[in-house]
Amino acid sequence: MSFTNKKIIAGNWKMNGLKNDAWKLTNDLLSKFESPDEKLGFEMIICPPATLLSEVVSMVDGSPIKVGAQNCCDKLDGAYTGEISPVMVKDIGANFVILGHSERRSYYGETNELVAKKAEAALNQGLTPIICIGETLEQKENGSALAVIEDQFLNSIPENATIENIIIAYEPVWAIGTGKVATLQDIIDVHTKIREVAEKKFGSQNISILYGGSVKPNNAKDIFSLKDVDGVLVGGASLKADDFWAIAMASV
Ligand code: 13P
Repeated sequence: MSFTNKKIIAGNWKMNGLKNDAWKLTNDLLSKFESPDEKLGFEMIICPPATLLSEVVSMVDGSPIKVGAQNCCDKLDGAYTGEISPVMVKDIGANFVILGHSERRSYYGETNELVAKKAEAALNQGLTPIICIGETLEQKENGSALAVIEDQFLNSIPENATIENIIIAYEPVWAIGTGKVATLQDIIDVHTKIREVAEKKFGSQNISILYGGSVKPNNAKDIFSLKDVDGVLVGGASLKADDFWAIAMASV
């Protein structure tokens, strides 16, 4: 298990939000934590775009909300124009970083090997990588999903990873932003597979696995009912404070 035994509710804002939006969304979330009957049965992580990290880190200071970046470089500093190093992410006060998201793999050519290098660098700076893996629709339909998951898991995880210092996010590509949530059986099958591979690699199945892909308030309770689901990585619904909060409350 990672840094917590509680369910992890992580929000990936992707490339959305200007200063005003971030201010409102973060304030709306903070105000929900202030309600007297609120149960802190979960850990909340929000991952804004890099331009908003500093602002959001200051806003959530002293609150239960934690902050992550959506990407980082595998290098620590130097002539890498446009990149953001894990040292910078840590310096700004974020503690997590999403790596190997399928959008980065498909639009920016990120390979398992690059994801592993980024994760290694992030771990060396004390960041917790949230490493994303997931099959495409074609891979699901041709029956190779579980083999793809095993390959991505084994090759996207660096040498300095342990069962406790990383979080895995299973995000079937065909379920991201499509409204097509994986069936509960799909989630069970893949999370079980990930735990089997984790056992082979680390000698323990006890790794944190988030599910991501069209998680909404109306399906969150069913997803959290699965014992193999340690949390969720939410895209679209994390941009609406009420929806994100409803998802979090479905976990407790
Ligand atoms: P949606 O929740 O919008 O499907 O996005 C999921 C995702 O990609 C989170 O990283």
